[in-house]
Amino acid sequence: MRLDKFLVSTGKISRSDAGRAARGGKVTVNGIVEKKADRHIDPDVDVVTLCGERIVYRRYTYILLNKPAGYVSATEDGRDPTVLTLLPEDLGRIGLFPCGRLDKYTLGLMLLTNDGDLSHRLLSPRHHVEKRYAYTCRLPLLAEDMEQLERGVELEDGYMTKPARMIAEPESRSGIIVLTEGKYHQIKRMFEAVGNKIETLERVTFGPLSLDPTLERGQWRYLTDAEVALLQSGTKGVDGV
Ligand code: URA
Repeated sequence: MRLDKFLVSTGKISRSDAGRAARGGKVTVNGIVEKKADRHIDPDVDVVTLCGERIVYRRYTYILLNKPAGYVSATEDGRDPTVLTLLPEDLGRIGLFPCGRLDKYTLGLMLLTNDGDLSHRLLSPRHHVEKRYAYTCRLPLLAEDMEQLERGVELEDGYMTKPARMIAEPESRSGIIVLTEGKYHQIKRMFEAVGNKIETLERVTFGPLSLDPTLERGQWRYLTDAEVALLQSGTKGVDGV
């Protein structure tokens, strides 16, 4: 594998910065400074450092994005910009895709990865991975409607939603809804089923991950090793269960 590709795969650096770092003498391979970013290395055998730090090979990339309104969660779209266009060009070439969908005007936590197995596990209803959404709705949500949403409601196509959890004051127009599934426009359709209407929606958690308050809308960062390990461990929610 090319040295620059290896450095980029770790998620710490873009390909152009990798080239610059090598030319600047900041990269070593097996203890020797290597200025040629296009040289080949064996990630399982060679020891690479960047600015003195040992770089461990990462097969997959994991990105946390604070999705703004107006972007679609797809890899391509003929009409609207996709969430991938918010990332630098380098990251457009490593097969990233959004793990699950948010509607065009839904905001908040979006995970992007090229790890198909992990994504499949996080999205499979069998694994009950929790997602929390902060909502505002048009009408005060009555206690009986909250109970109904928690028990499950029948959507207009006959689908019965799985039990959900509401974190909200009765009769208020905002709160948190916690789901373990993700059907098309699910929350909007659930609120419509109880005669209400969603006005704004923001995903604030995804499994054990929380939306990073330091990320502005449209900003992103790599997941930390600890966050990746949590996702891989099968932790289902932010409460650590
Ligand atoms: N439910 C919705 O209705 N929209 C989303 O974007 C996510 C969940």
